[in-house]
Amino acid sequence: MKLTSGRGARLAGGLALAVSLVLMATGATAQPLRATGEVRVDQPGVTIAPEVYGQFMEQLGTGIDEGVWVGPDSPIPNTRGFRNDVVEALRALDVPVVRWPGGCYADIYHWRDGIGSRDQRPVTLNRWWGDKEEGNAFGAHEFFEFAELIGAKTYLSVNVGSGTPAEAADWIEYITSPSHSRLAELRRANGREQPWKIDYLGIGNEPWGCGGRMRPSWYADLLRQYVGFVAPTGQKAIIVAAGPNSDDVDWTRTLMSVAGDHLDALALHYYTLPTGDWTTKGPATGFDESQWTSTFVQTYRMEAMIAAHDAVMDQTDPAGAKILAVDEWGAWYDPTPGSPPGWLQQQNSLRDALLAAVNFNIFHRHADRVRLGNIAQMVNVLQAMILTDDERMVLTPTYHAFEMYRPFQGATVLPLEIRSPDYGPLKAVDGTAARGLDGKVHLALVNLDPGRPVEVALSVAGGTARRVSGRILTAAAMDGQNTFDAPKAVMPAPFTDARVRGDVVIVRMPPKALVVLTLD
Ligand code: AHR
Repeated sequence: MKLTSGRGARLAGGLALAVSLVLMATGATAQPLRATGEVRVDQPGVTIAPEVYGQFMEQLGTGIDEGVWVGPDSPIPNTRGFRNDVVEALRALDVPVVRWPGGCYADIYHWRDGIGSRDQRPVTLNRWWGDKEEGNAFGAHEFFEFAELIGAKTYLSVNVGSGTPAEAADWIEYITSPSHSRLAELRRANGREQPWKIDYLGIGNEPWGCGGRMRPSWYADLLRQYVGFVAPTGQKAIIVAAGPNSDDVDWTRTLMSVAGDHLDALALHYYTLPTGDWTTKGPATGFDESQWTSTFVQTYRMEAMIAAHDAVMDQTDPAGAKILAVDEWGAWYDPTPGSPPGWLQQQNSLRDALLAAVNFNIFHRHADRVRLGNIAQMVNVLQAMILTDDERMVLTPTYHAFEMYRPFQGATVLPLEIRSPDYGPLKAVDGTAARGLDGKVHLALVNLDPGRPVEVALSVAGGTARRVSGRILTAAAMDGQNTFDAPKAVMPAPFTDARVRGDVVIVRMPPKALVVLTLD
């Protein structure tokens, strides 16, 4: 159709205006920023432990009940009580490890409440999370069965804050003993012949806070005591000590010097709050650009924290044998208005996907020390992968970021240098590169600028790239989100704006976008 005069010309003008308004809204007409850099494909570094892509599920709100567990009699399609849709979505993520039962809940959880016939289990009160009445349908058997269903390793946290070493030791024996002891026979009577494997064993949770308000030296001694009783016989579990709150390096120093020989990993918890203020964290959606920026400023604190704890750990563990386990991380916003108090429900948006990507990049930069990570939390709680509402399920932008980064699980870090223009107090472009288990070079780039596109020219050193292909995750709005009515609004799409010119890969990224590429 030719539109040259009269009504046609007006239509053409209107169309052009509409197109440019859309382009302006997406930032595509703004002058592109330019970034340069280099990836060295001939200098493989350390391996990215798949376990940094782990998940965390706590008995909290609808994180487990309704989100994962609906019971075998539910009209929602399920396998022995576990939602089929959620299990299938998680299997597609290759979840390497899942942590349970908490969180703060771990230190009020008494495992005997969660075994035996489900209709006989007691109702207990979840005093940390809204005083919710817990029916205890999801206990140890359900946890290990669920981990098997999604193909994940297990990370179990025992109760230190309000429990005893004897209670914890009994639980471990119940779960792991191949013997004919009273507890192993009880497990059999409850339907499980073979012992389960505990891959990671957490000794309490946040003992500096909800886990007992302890001082580091007190907890360090308790850790030594617990470890003496709980280590499973006949299998090796990685012992995860409850570690520092954010940047508390004194905690790390004390733990490493008093109990360094009794732990394999030290946990670090850090949550990203847009405002940095626990009383008014900032909304999950409907935020302005200043909160977009401050969210990323806050999340980049993770990098300095890891470096600081790593440096302290280096003093007694220069070989890096001990793991820094970032076993709670993610965005924590003001709860969804009207949601039940203490259920930590929040919507998830494009901002969360980019935040996840930035944290993955940070973990990769510290892959020698950070070899376990668990985002908080898996379903319906905080920065979730999945939201459910009765029989409906939605995959969040964070889910898609995890899915796009799958090639980095077990990959080998490659040196990547990016010279990026500024975006306010930040660099606009962040990235990571690695050689995947498939032998190919994978590259992830994030453009944090919500208003301007960026052209990234990356030279490939030490090898050649003939072809580049990949996918992009972006949205028209900073808080672009998936809802139950529009579950596919923010989805990865094929990316066609990357090409190879000589030994340079040129990537034209729109504003506020994540691109994951493969070089052949
Ligand atoms: O993930 C929510 C809570 O945050 C956890 O229970 C606790 O460990 C942390 O403070």
